[in-house]
Amino acid sequence: MVMNLRVGQGFDIHALVENRPLIIGGVTIPHTHGLLGHSDADVLMHAVTDAILGAAGLGDIGRHFPDTDEQYKGADSRVLLRTALDMVKRQGWEIINLDATIHAQAPKIGPHAPAMIENLAADLQLSADRINIKAKTNEGLGHLGRKEGIAANVVVLIYQS
Ligand code: CDP
Ligand code: ZN
Repeated sequence: MVMNLRVGQGFDIHALVENRPLIIGGVTIPHTHGLLGHSDADVLMHAVTDAILGAAGLGDIGRHFPDTDEQYKGADSRVLLRTALDMVKRQGWEIINLDATIHAQAPKIGPHAPAMIENLAADLQLSADRINIKAKTNEGLGHLGRKEGIAANVVVLIYQS
């Protein structure tokens, strides 16, 4: 059987500010700062959404869920992700695996990765062993190293049988 394979990548970054909750991968992480954004600013879910839309050739998150649209103010990024997944699945695509890197000088992501994987497995209707989450500091370098924000990179492989 020859499979129709596509790869997609997603990137996102949000500023870290006071008086905002820190929500990454649907997990609220206790921290002094949170991510700033029109929606809940879940940097990982946004990068995952872009990766799956990209793999299917469906543009990006901003095209489907404009941040100028009041409808998406404070939006739960997991709902946007599930909506994007529906679009991708309606075209016959299934996810093979997903690999993410979160760039955060602080806080430690490792202890929260299993909960993020559980959320992603539920949202993507995918077995948890097909989802990998890595974390890196930025070795103190640049804006990420100064803890001015958190970024995420995601790659995803999809197939059409
Ligand atoms: O050792 P290396 O320079 O490759 O990476 P690092 O940025 O020093 O991070 C070391 C390890 O800490 C990572 O492999 C992650 O397991 C963990 N880490 C984390 O859990 N949360 C972060 N925000 C950054 C790193
Ligand atoms: Zn975002």
